[in-house]
Amino acid sequence: MNYYRDIRPIIEAKCLACHAQGSVAFSYEDPERAYDFRAAIVGAVAARRMPPWMAEPGHQRYLNDYSLSDAQLALFERWGAAGYPKGRPRQSTRNAKAPAGFVGDVTVALAGSRDFLPDQTHPDDYRCFVTRWPLDHPAYVTGIGATPGNARISHHAIIYIGEPSHLPVYQEFVAAEGGQGYRCFGGPVADRLAEPGQREAFVASHKESFEELANGQYWLAHWAPGMEGYDLPPGTGIPVKPGATVVVQMHYFSGFAPNERDAGSVLHFKTAEQVAKPAMNWPLSRSEWLQGKSNGSLVVPAKGKSSVSFAASLLGLDQYIAVASGRPLADFDRIEIHSVNVHMHLIGAAGRASAAR
Ligand code: HEC
Repeated sequence: MNYYRDIRPIIEAKCLACHAQGSVAFSYEDPERAYDFRAAIVGAVAARRMPPWMAEPGHQRYLNDYSLSDAQLALFERWGAAGYPKGRPRQSTRNAKAPAGFVGDVTVALAGSRDFLPDQTHPDDYRCFVTRWPLDHPAYVTGIGATPGNARISHHAIIYIGEPSHLPVYQEFVAAEGGQGYRCFGGPVADRLAEPGQREAFVASHKESFEELANGQYWLAHWAPGMEGYDLPPGTGIPVKPGATVVVQMHYFSGFAPNERDAGSVLHFKTAEQVAKPAMNWPLSRSEWLQGKSNGSLVVPAKGKSSVSFAASLLGLDQYIAVASGRPLADFDRIEIHSVNVHMHLIGAAGRASAAR
């Protein structure tokens, strides 16, 4: 067993998606350089920190699964125990199985993201950029991809779709903070408006209320490193009105790449004029969890365990999809759930979702 014959092909298949020039983490593209980091590689793999794959095995098959099998993990460990035998360089297997790039039909450049320097006084900066959806006819989004301008600082993007008539309001948020997006943490509305003075000024000068802004937008999709692009399940698509407002929250993390700028981030969409099954993403949260730090609603005792739960009714979801897609409610005699994603960072040890009828 040796590096070039047994280990390198696994690194090429399972690590280079992120460990490459211009991607999210330092490069392992040069096999000799990667070999220099052999002890760190075996350490990270053995501890199951790398590749970062949170799904528990044995329940579901996932597309683009880059987790390691138990046999591959054992191979890394045996290789380390044997003193990292190197073997002789051989042909790279790399491009043999490279995923086909995501190609959309609609491209949206994030206005203001070019040369944007994230706030350097905190490692995290949540910044919203605003653009008009370019299509002038009703459409459904059936696939999403992103090309971050600087992958080293791009932690995620969340794409919100707002009413077409709200575009000027969002553009004002941008203008008020200098023209390169605006600070936004929990959603597309500017953080600034949480301050009482700013909020009063907004209410006094706008016909749109906060409720209208909040109800007039939805979460279209999200992107994070490792997702080059993805298609929604066959036959489904998420409706977007002509000229809708596109608000994209970029989460920049400068901790690994201080003082680096975004070179201009771009989103790609696949669209269809009609789909058999209009769809929606439906983010749900218990509101007190969003203030978990101050109200202690998510405290886990040291060395202890704690579990929290949340229940939501799906009644009304059909109506929501009917309104968003402009289709009669009678079209929706059933709802299919395609995936459930429990968003809990590294705080949650396990998550479970079930449907009660
Ligand atoms: C989905 C993206 C992704 C994949 C796939 C991935 N890594 Fe990483 N890795 C990261 C990121 C992000 C960091 C932190 C980068 C930094 O410190 O600049 C990291 C850090 C590391 C580190 C140093 C920190 C630690 O935890 O020890 C090692 C070693 C490492 N990766 C090895 C690997 C190996 C080996 C593979 C494949 C078996 C792999 N990674 C696959 C994203 C990835």
